[in-house]
Parts: sequence; structure tokens; C-alpha cells
Amino acid sequence: MREKPGKNRSMHVMSKTRLVKAVPGAAQAAAECLSRGGLVAFPTETVYGLGADATDGQAVARLYDAKGRPAFNPLIAHVPDLDAARELAVFNTDAERLAAAFWPGPLTLVLPRAVTCTVSELATAGLDSIAIRVPDHALARTILRAFGRPIVAPSANISGHVSPTNAAHVLEDLDGKIDLIVDGGPAPVGIESTIVACLDAPVILRPGGLSREQIEATLRHGLAQTVESQDETPLAPGLLQSHYAPRTAVRLNATSVAPGEVLLAFGTPLPGAKASLNLSEKGDVGEAAANLFGHLRRLDAMRAPSIAVMRIPSEGLGEAINDRLRRAAAPKVIPASSS
Ligand code: TXA
Ligand code: MG
Repeated sequence: MREKPGKNRSMHVMSKTRLVKAVPGAAQAAAECLSRGGLVAFPTETVYGLGADATDGQAVARLYDAKGRPAFNPLIAHVPDLDAARELAVFNTDAERLAAAFWPGPLTLVLPRAVTCTVSELATAGLDSIAIRVPDHALARTILRAFGRPIVAPSANISGHVSPTNAAHVLEDLDGKIDLIVDGGPAPVGIESTIVACLDAPVILRPGGLSREQIEATLRHGLAQTVESQDETPLAPGLLQSHYAPRTAVRLNATSVAPGEVLLAFGTPLPGAKASLNLSEKGDVGEAAANLFGHLRRLDAMRAPSIAVMRIPSEGLGEAINDRLRRAAAPKVIPASSS
């Protein structure tokens, strides 16, 4: 713990961010902070989330503010189990199948909002649909159970930055802007959840930690074409081209390394890089996903003229990795619209 909170301190006057280890009592402290309207970063199996009480519009407004996130970009409501999810949304057959197979896990479902839904309209950007996830992380679920209400949690980074996969990444972006960080070690999957809309025919809105192949095997029918949202009114409103951007230029599918460049390698590294980090020496896309955002941050910090990235196959989690890398490499022209 870096600093003790003052007694009865006002939630809106916050000078320091507390960092606590995931010791017994940490989940309770997180739940108490959330119920006072506070902002709490905590680990999930995908990436670290920045949590707020989903039912408290003021807390949600502070969350948008802390991240610098445009309020038209809705948030994911996190719940501890399927029963809690049913109070927020209407499940069709496809949604039932996917939830039964993959929750808890790295899957977010976008579903019609239920009349019983208590989530603030600000958090859902006034849409008729809501994004919901049951995370597969013991600490996240203990916090959700202790809190007893849904928690909205975008990735715990400044809007437009690379998602955080450990507590140090969160501190880098949000120190002084949020109340508490619970450090539960590195996020094991390392890439955000796969978002599937089950409003009509199921469709992947964002590839992520659950592969298309796994989803199709469970649905027993193909998915509609993935929505590549790049205009001003994308279906997953956070998915604009300039998302997940490091400051350094990113060059994809490199087959050689230019002078001064640093290398993000996959498998046997290309020769000649000033510095190099390997996503997976043995060429495993799961391992690569877990390392992706941390390696990007470290290479970005080296301030090289550009980061050369070796080709990564698109099977399994490779689809999500390539999606994030394409966004990292895209020109940074729409800074206000990422998450
Ligand atoms: O793995 C994850 O999903 C992490 C962890 C913390 O759970 N969260 C995360 O949240 O990645 P965020 O806010 O960074 O990304 C959520 C995405 C955004 O692109 C947002 O536009 C989309 O979900 N989204 C939320 N509600 C939606 C809705 N009703 N319809 C379509 N897209 C929605
Ligand atoms: Mg995000």
C-alpha cells in the first residue's frame, strides 16, 4: 500500500492512487471503494479493468473522465455469474449456448438490454443493447461477489493507449486519476475478450481471447462476417482504426530489420535489430497474446524510429493479435474515439 486513505475523504478529491497486493481483505477494500463511488483497477484473465459501480451514473462519469474516453463509447458490465447476467439482458439460443460454454471466460456478449437492467444509461451510451462478461479470474469474481452489483470495467489505460496486462502498466497511465489498484500479478490471457453480438445472427464485433474456431464449434453454424468498424458509427463503438496505439511507428510483416529499428519477433528472430523482444520463441499464438501488450509497451519506451513486427499466423488467437497490431500500425488520426 502506497498511502493510507484519509478518513471520510471525499471521493471527488483524490490526490494519490493506492496500490495494494491481492492479500485477503483486498477484495473487500475494493468493494467498499466501489460502493463509495470510487474507481478501482483490478486484474481479469484478459487485461486489467478499471471498475466503477455500473449503477452509479456519477461514478461512471468519473470513469470516462479518468480514461479520457468519449462518452459515446459504451462499457462492458461485469457480473459474477450467468444468473446476474440474466437480470441485465435478454439471452437468445446462441447467447445461451455461448454463455454455457465459455463463461466464466474471455467472451463478452452484446445482447438486448432487459427491462430489469440497473446499469446506468451513461455506461451503455443510451443504446438498447448491453455488453456483458463473466470474467474467469478468482480475484475479479471475489470483488464482484463482495460488491453485489454489476461493475463496468473498460481496460485500465488512458483512452487510445495499449491495454494494461499488469499493475505497473495501470500505474503508468492512471496514477493520481483513480482510487485503488489491486495487484493480482500478470493477466494470463493478455488480450481483451472476444465480443460477440447476439442481437440477430451472431457476429464477432472484436476478435479477442476466445478464438473464432472455438465459437463456431459451439454454435454449430458459421458466424456472420466480422464487422470491421472503421467509420464514425461503428457497431462496436470503440473499434476505430487508431486504437491500441504505441507512440512509435509500427511496421507489420517485416522480413528484415532497418537500421535503428527495434524488433517484435515471433519464432526465430530476424537479425540486425538494435533490441528485440520475442512474443513466442516456439511460435505459440497463446503465449504471444499473453506477451503482446507488455512487449509493445517496452519497445515503445525505447523510442526507436519504428518497431518492426514479424508476421504472425492468423489461426486461433492470432486473429486477435493481428487485429491489435493492425490498429497499432494505423495512422493515429482519430485520437478521441478509442477505448
Ligand atoms: O477483456 C475485456 O473485455 C476487458 C476486461 C477489463 O474485461 N475490457 C475491455 O473493455 O476491453 P473496453 O471498454 O476497453 O472495450 C469494450 C468494447 C468497446 O470497443 C465498446 O465499444 C464495446 O466493447 N461495446 C460496449 N458495449 C457495446 C454495445 N452495446 N454494442 C457494441 N459494442 C459495445
Ligand atoms: Mg480498451
